[in-house]
Amino acid sequence: MMILKKSSDNEGGSSGGGGGGGGGVLYAYLGILCCVLVVSVIAVFLGSGFRSSAVAVNSGSTVSIVELQKKVIAATVANLNPSRAIASDVSLYRKNSSFSPIQRKSAVVRKVDKNEEGLTRARAAIRKAAGVRNQSIINPGGIYRNPGAFYQSYKEMERRFKVYVYEDGDFIIVHNGPCKDIYASEGRFISEMEHGNSKFRTRDPHSAHVYFMPFSVTWMVKFLYKPLSYNVTPLKEFVSDYVRLISTKYPFWNRSHGAYHFMLSCHDWAPLASKGNDFLYNTSIRVLCNANSSEGFNPQKDVSLPEIYLYNGGVSPKLQSPPPANISRPYLGFFAGGLHGDIRKNLFEHWKGKDSDLRVYEYLPKYMDYPSELLRSKFCLCPSGYEVASPRAVEAIYAECVPVMLSDHYVFPFSDVLNWDAFSIQVNISDIPRLKEILLAIPEDKYMKLKEGLRAVRKHFELNRPALKFDVFHMILHSIWLRRLNLRL
Ligand SMILES: *[C@@H]1O[C@H](CO)[C@@H](O)[C@H](O)[C@H]1NC(C)=O
Ligand SMILES: *[C@@H]1O[C@H](CO)[C@@H](O)[C@H](O)[C@H]1NC(C)=O
Ligand SMILES: *[C@@H]1O[C@H](CO)[C@@H](O)[C@H](O)[C@H]1NC(C)=O
Ligand SMILES: *[C@@H]1O[C@H](CO)[C@@H](O)[C@H](O)[C@H]1NC(C)=O
Ligand SMILES: *[C@@H]1O[C@H](CO)[C@@H](O)[C@H](O)[C@H]1NC(C)=O
Ligand SMILES: *[C@@H]1O[C@H](CO)[C@@H](O)[C@H](O)[C@H]1NC(C)=O
Ligand SMILES: *[C@@H]1O[C@H](CO)[C@@H](O)[C@H](O)[C@H]1NC(C)=O
Repeated sequence: MMILKKSSDNEGGSSGGGGGGGGGVLYAYLGILCCVLVVSVIAVFLGSGFRSSAVAVNSGSTVSIVELQKKVIAATVANLNPSRAIASDVSLYRKNSSFSPIQRKSAVVRKVDKNEEGLTRARAAIRKAAGVRNQSIINPGGIYRNPGAFYQSYKEMERRFKVYVYEDGDFIIVHNGPCKDIYASEGRFISEMEHGNSKFRTRDPHSAHVYFMPFSVTWMVKFLYKPLSYNVTPLKEFVSDYVRLISTKYPFWNRSHGAYHFMLSCHDWAPLASKGNDFLYNTSIRVLCNANSSEGFNPQKDVSLPEIYLYNGGVSPKLQSPPPANISRPYLGFFAGGLHGDIRKNLFEHWKGKDSDLRVYEYLPKYMDYPSELLRSKFCLCPSGYEVASPRAVEAIYAECVPVMLSDHYVFPFSDVLNWDAFSIQVNISDIPRLKEILLAIPEDKYMKLKEGLRAVRKHFELNRPALKFDVFHMILHSIWLRRLNLRL
């Protein structure tokens, strides 16, 4: 069973965590753009009281935006009562029904049929591409399981895929999420979907293939959870209320018993919150960082979301341009992070402070700088902490430091299309005592191949605003698209 731990930080010791030591100022360019959008919407919501703050946003001062967001959130939370807001939404709808069930029924049926036809064609095209051996289709670094099928599937997605984002629910907990720190991939996806002008978004729910419920479990934890109560009932109730709202107001949920709907969260407790509705848990697509296959994560319908640590809202500039591959790295392996969970306990017992080449720290010495150490190491250890996911995998990819995955039951992000063996090493937990021997035994040519894989796969884990082709936003959407097609490549 899942045990409740500290809610705010499952990691410690990653780029922004305890191990960061003196840690330099990391630039927050992308993250702040994201938050500018969020803040400008908050300003609209709160009206004149925050006019002056909205002006501060336009002045472009980075610190004030973050501070402002804190203030605005604090002010808004005081008035927040999600269940009441939801109830009033329902009555509004009844008075002014734009989704009347009898509304142009034949047109609606035609749209649904057309959609299904399109999906059938997409499936056929993907299956065909999967079966063809085509020499001209490139597979850089060998990172794709089936490059032909992936490119075809991606192309079909761009051509057809439409997502409807439910507009219901109160701002802050819905339509918003954290854009920095360890759960940033949650806020960044929600923000891109809500404000990113994505061509995948449709305003017409009848022409959508999937329905997004844009609530943030991280903000639920922040605003609804009573610290140290270890009681997640308020989170489950919020989720349950939200599903009740959209399933009463619109026909789409009941029609599919929750299938073709998705939620997305990076918070450790998102799987628990999703238990607020049985159909959501059992049938909907849950996009989760906490992708533990022995805790109900079902890779056939759920999607593993990469955990991306945006300390101060951005990626360290050092990780944005790692040194060329031919610059040799002085150390074999590196890890710094808190003693969280059994795997790390095992790792520390065997390696903490024991070896000058395979360097394992609980606390990074003050004179060391986390991103620089990643760049100076050939292999970066990515042991699970309290939960299976770790931002270290993505940090290692950015640093072109081969990730050494030390986990059990973790379904790796995008493993539906990516061949993780082409850019990472998996070491069985029971082999931790032999870790150094295993890494030393990897031949140079295999290591160079892994580096090539890392360079090729990097774009799939990058956040951009606006989102770019094949980046992490599109890879997440693609995973959802595959679940909607009910197709495995
Ligand atoms: C009610 O419907 C009218 C006409 O469709 C629309 O102009 C108006 O904005 C709606 N009001 C609300 C509160 O949704
Ligand atoms: C092989 O791939 C190329 C480039 O994507 C494409 O133009 C060509 O039609 C493909 N050939 C076959 C037989 O599918
Ligand atoms: C969906 O089903 C629930 C529970 O059976 C029901 O209360 C709700 O009214 C239904 N929604 C619609 C739009 O018919
Ligand atoms: C969801 O799955 C659980 C466990 O398998 C089961 O007990 C429950 O009845 C299911 N709920 C629905 C609505 O199918
Ligand atoms: C590394 O490669 C670059 C070009 O790819 C070359 O200019 C440089 O001299 C190489 N450095 C070493 C140390 O081999
Ligand atoms: C994954 O789930 C299993 C079963 O509940 C649990 O024993 C294990 O500790 C979980 N893994 C992590 C890293 O939390
Ligand atoms: C890991 O090692 C254990 C014990 O040696 C073994 O039972 C298990 O099958 C191994 N798992 C993998 C994925 O190799």
